[in-house]
Amino acid sequence: MSGTPDERLARVLLGWPEEMRVLRRFGLHDGQRLLDLGSGPGVVAAELLRLLPGSTLVAVDSRAEGLPHVWEVPGPGVAHMALLRATVTRLPLRADAFDFALARLVFQYLPRPVEAAREAMRVLCPGGRLAVSDVDRTLSLAVNPELPELEMLMSRYDAWHRDRGGDRGVGARLRDILREAGAGRVETETIRFESRPETAELYLEALMGPRRLRGLREAGYAMQAEVDDFLAARAQWLLSPGRAVSRYLRIACGTKER
Ligand SMILES: C[S@@+](CC[C@H](N)C(=O)[O-])C[C@H]1O[C@@H](n2cnc3c(N)ncnc32)[C@H](O)[C@@H]1O
Repeated sequence: MSGTPDERLARVLLGWPEEMRVLRRFGLHDGQRLLDLGSGPGVVAAELLRLLPGSTLVAVDSRAEGLPHVWEVPGPGVAHMALLRATVTRLPLRADAFDFALARLVFQYLPRPVEAAREAMRVLCPGGRLAVSDVDRTLSLAVNPELPELEMLMSRYDAWHRDRGGDRGVGARLRDILREAGAGRVETETIRFESRPETAELYLEALMGPRRLRGLREAGYAMQAEVDDFLAARAQWLLSPGRAVSRYLRIACGTKER
């Protein structure tokens, strides 16, 4: 991940206070045994433990290289955290071991998200809850003034994702996925969060930062000239006084039946 720990925190946690409010309404509270599925570098995991210091947390990610970054995130919660390298569809964890599981921005990568939800249900205790938050591409981008070069690269990113078995429209299917995985009482919520002019660059960065641009180019989904066009348009866009980016996140939460 690029940037200082503070910059990463800001980029990953756009809209986080509202998301946290929704998660609390869905049953997240202090003192629980938490599971963070597809934790990435653990920014959210560390933030959860900062806000819920009486909880313990297991963070799971299939990529080893992301996890060490978690130790750079300051906070007392790190002492209550265990890191596990595993795939979310096959967790080396015993049944009924967690009260609340969160899968944030990971279902979009999974060819079979129902399997992951089922596996999460297995390790939850009866009455435990699984919250899945993810993008819904039909909603997830509103940029003012228009920035067609970004739209174009986002479409390429969607295609790249799809070709690897993922789905950036998964947010619209979360209720069905949880139901199919056997969850009872599924609740859903859509969060919208909007940049201010001074945070617009951060929002753009989260959507199409240097790492994603490099990935698109290296994987053959964008040409250098297209990246250059985007960067030039972006520089102009950042000068516009009313610049704003709105983003949406779908959250669904289901209960493991007793
Ligand atoms: C966009 S990041 C989200 C990180 C974090 N949840 C957050 O909200 O900032 C997605 C993460 O999911 C992980 N991932 C993707 N497929 C996975 C799988 N099958 N099992 C475990 N982790 C997976 C990736 O390695 C990556 O770290």
